[in-house]
Amino acid sequence: MVFSISQAFVRYIRKMEKFSFQISGGDYQNIGYVSNTIKKILNTRKISAVNSRRIAVSIFEVETNIILYARRGTIEIELDNSSVVVAANDEGKGIENVWLAMQEGYTTANEEIRRLGFGAGLGLSNINNNADILWISSKVNIGTCLILVFLI
Ligand SMILES: Nc1ncnc2c1ncn2[C@@H]1O[C@H](COP(=O)(O)OP(=O)(O)O)[C@@H](O)[C@H]1O
Ligand SMILES: [Mg+2]
Repeated sequence: MVFSISQAFVRYIRKMEKFSFQISGGDYQNIGYVSNTIKKILNTRKISAVNSRRIAVSIFEVETNIILYARRGTIEIELDNSSVVVAANDEGKGIENVWLAMQEGYTTANEEIRRLGFGAGLGLSNINNNADILWISSKVNIGTCLILVFLI
């Protein structure tokens, strides 16, 4: 009881907010939903246009990869007055070689994905260029976890 009250107090003084999204693999129609939603939320907070853009761009790449390459996943976004933290977890085929996947132009996208206009192989490097911290952990046939931190 005391603990939950003190936690609520910390959240209150740090103005912490948390948003959570469930993503379904193959749900191409909804590519962009999470990043659009967060962008709208950020635009109503005291966050610069540059920051809200780099955060939305990175979340777009994260949600796209879950929809294109995983079975299902969640994206959790926590913001307070000094940072935005994005935690993405998915169940799926995972990434065999994270270093290789990070290289510009590397993609395993098939014909169908390319026909939809995705698969330039720039997503992970784009995230890496936009986030202040990027941490990736992945296990083949289990799934992938990404943590992104933005200092705002
Ligand atoms: N969540 C994920 N699950 C499985 N594989 C992924 C995931 N995210 C990225 N990958 C792998 O990393 C590669 C590079 O990703 P990215 O840089 O976003 O380029 P693209 O999406 O255009 O292929 C993908 O082609 C895919 O093989
Ligand atoms: Mg991608």
